[in-house]
Amino acid sequence: MDLHSLLSLALLILYASIIIEPYRAFGLSQGSFGLEGGAGICSAVTVHGYRCQEFHVRTDDGYILSVQRIPQGRLGSGGGGGGGKTKQPVLLQHGVLVDGMTWVLNSPDESLAFILADSGFDVWISNTRGTKFSRRHLTLDATNPEFWNWTWDDLVTHDLPVVIDFVFKQTGQKIDYVGHSMGTLVALASFSEGRQINKVKSAALLSPIAYLSHMTTALGNVAAKAFVGEITTLFGLAEFNPKGEPVMNFLKALCAQPGVNCYDLLTAITGKNCCLNASTVELFLKHEPQSTATKNLVHLAQTVRDGTLSKYDYGNLFYNVKHYGELRPPMYNLSNIPHNLPLFLSYGGQDALSDVRDVETLLDSLKLHDPDKLSVQYIKDYAHADFIIGVTAKDIVYNQIISFFRHQL
Ligand SMILES: *[C@@H]1O[C@H](CO)[C@@H](O)[C@H](O)[C@H]1NC(C)=O
Ligand SMILES: *[C@@H]1O[C@H](CO)[C@@H](O)[C@H](O)[C@H]1NC(C)=O
Ligand SMILES: *[C@@H]1O[C@H](CO)[C@@H](O)[C@H](O)[C@H]1NC(C)=O
Repeated sequence: MDLHSLLSLALLILYASIIIEPYRAFGLSQGSFGLEGGAGICSAVTVHGYRCQEFHVRTDDGYILSVQRIPQGRLGSGGGGGGGKTKQPVLLQHGVLVDGMTWVLNSPDESLAFILADSGFDVWISNTRGTKFSRRHLTLDATNPEFWNWTWDDLVTHDLPVVIDFVFKQTGQKIDYVGHSMGTLVALASFSEGRQINKVKSAALLSPIAYLSHMTTALGNVAAKAFVGEITTLFGLAEFNPKGEPVMNFLKALCAQPGVNCYDLLTAITGKNCCLNASTVELFLKHEPQSTATKNLVHLAQTVRDGTLSKYDYGNLFYNVKHYGELRPPMYNLSNIPHNLPLFLSYGGQDALSDVRDVETLLDSLKLHDPDKLSVQYIKDYAHADFIIGVTAKDIVYNQIISFFRHQL
């Protein structure tokens, strides 16, 4: 394993999640990382006058995921056409190191989940295994390292299919999908294998991530500045908990290094989000970042390093053969995404995670897609977090998503 790429990626995602306010980001102001409060996602929904339902969905490998539903808009019908008309379900899938809470942090007029509900959609929010509300398993406790033995391959084969199935069964309708960041990667990989494709009506992919090789240029400096001494403790963790002591201590020590200016690092890495509300960021930090599996970060780091989209590399021919029957992990071939699946992609010019050049590689792999079924939006000023909690996102992105969804038959 390439230590630098793993470390860089872990840092990158952490910074990208935390967005701004470096001192908080490194936990130097105590308390801002306290995840207490217990308030679930539904409390953050009902407080604004929306109904909210919570479900627990079990994956075929035993994880119990929480899923929230906002069945209607604030005023009841939510402009859904009235009467007995069935609403169009839409599933929101967050990225790595955050959870479904991120869709409801801004005001109802600014948050995608609420805007969709008020526009007549039946909104479903999923929470990836290992995040705060999805830390249960039939037989494994989250303190058991085995609980963290998974990568985004498992989200492709277990989490996403079961959640799509569940929403499909509950609503009896094909689903519109919205993914952000790793939520786009998981969807693209799934679609390329034809999974659940008959239950998905269309997909909107924000800050799409599939190829990550250009992140490394921005990260070269970080990796070079990172001191190697602490890395082993990071590796020792099966759970990668950004709020846990080992990671926090690691980051504090990193920032205390002479010549390492964490504020510069932050800007260099996240890209400059143009349009965040300081109070929302504060709220964000109360809930995020969330844990993921260290193995998942290793897998993402492999994507950064190799420039290909492949299944997890066991780094050992014997294990690769054992798991895949091949020496190298199989690739995901995005050209195999059904060419008539309606896709909306929106990416930002300032996004350091979803680098413009990597998005171009992704678009190239979609070049056989039906032109009528592929809609691409480029937003010059946007960085990674603007797509989720930017105060201008409604006008710039969400209205486009809604009209895109409405135009699919
Ligand atoms: C982790 O999961 C893989 C299957 O993906 C399995 O082969 C392996 O034995 C598991 N590792 C441990 C330590 O249980
Ligand atoms: C920022 O958030 C606060 C608290 O929710 C809100 O009162 C204010 O209107 C928001 N500002 C913008 C520009 O959205
Ligand atoms: C991906 O699939 C396309 C056709 O679906 C094929 O032409 C191409 O060779 C494949 N790429 C790889 C790397 O296997």
